[in-house]
Amino acid sequence: MTKGPITTRKIGVLMGGESSERDISIRSGLAIYQSLQELGYNAVPIDISKDIVNTLKKEKIKFAFLALHGGIGENGAIQGMLEVLGISYTGSGVLASALAMDKEVSKKIFIYHGLPVAPFIIVQRSAFSVQRSAKNAEPQLPAIDFPLPWVVKPVEEGSSIGVSMVKDEKELSSAIKKAFSLGKRTMIEKFIPGKEIHIGILGQKVLGGVEVRPSLEFYNYEAKYTSGLTDYIIPPEIDDTTYESAKDVALKAHMALGCSGASRVDLRIEENSNIPNILEVNTLPGMTTTSLLPKIAKSAGLSFNNLIEEIIRLALKE
Ligand SMILES: Nc1ncnc2c1ncn2[C@@H]1O[C@H](COP(=O)(O)OP(=O)(O)O)[C@@H](O)[C@H]1O
Ligand SMILES: [Mg+2]
Repeated sequence: MTKGPITTRKIGVLMGGESSERDISIRSGLAIYQSLQELGYNAVPIDISKDIVNTLKKEKIKFAFLALHGGIGENGAIQGMLEVLGISYTGSGVLASALAMDKEVSKKIFIYHGLPVAPFIIVQRSAFSVQRSAKNAEPQLPAIDFPLPWVVKPVEEGSSIGVSMVKDEKELSSAIKKAFSLGKRTMIEKFIPGKEIHIGILGQKVLGGVEVRPSLEFYNYEAKYTSGLTDYIIPPEIDDTTYESAKDVALKAHMALGCSGASRVDLRIEENSNIPNILEVNTLPGMTTTSLLPKIAKSAGLSFNNLIEEIIRLALKE
């Protein structure tokens, strides 16, 4: 006998918006919407780039399932709007969402908690452009006290958008400029050689992990979203002790930011020390049927529909 839906509230699946991750968000949103229909929920897909407040009121939405990635959907802004409107929503709250989206602030919190992260520095766009506009001046690059290669990334983006690998100091200036086209702060981080592991968290527990093996230079946008370009290995091919420590660090990172519901923590296992360095916590990870969190859930015995229902259950408990 099948159980009925755990809420009769009308669910808006919020997707789209104007972030650079709009397309992926729509793919996640439609997969979630389809699952909600299969599970018998009263659900409606909503593109947040339209007049969102009026749409939510007109549709009489009482619960929002967030399928947003990047920008205002993931940085706490939509979460704040939903709080004001009195609409419950899935996943992390305003503060945790804002912290997780900000790679500078979240890394400072991880350091405070003694969690491992790659060495990094932050460059402000204002400082960089003042130097560039000075007469005859080439931009003065910041002093970086860790060795090449470096990873240059915008502080508040996702899907590897604006991320560059810098192997030669000569490439730094253009990598920084690319990152500044996406935001006011750029992070320059030490490249961590070794395996990349993503850990899924659900309801303050570790679901499991996946090893991500891209065939391209790194796990960039193309490697993330073109089928066949990356191999996903579950469970990761690392020794048990390293896997346990990656899971432990991932759960602590999720908790340090005060995250709720489901999240996916990206880590690099440094090849000599086996230390799991946290790259970031994703509070609204990809939710297409082939995305990593659903893959991890499946290996833990949860179907896509089970995962969707569990995320709703956790949101209703808050
Ligand atoms: N310090 C690093 N060392 C090695 N690879 C990195 C590092 N930082 C980022 N990368 C690579 O770039 C990808 C995207 O970086 P990430 O920090 O997770 O940003 P995004 O929010 O865009 O996913 C990672 O999945 C990884 O493959
Ligand atoms: Mg990432």
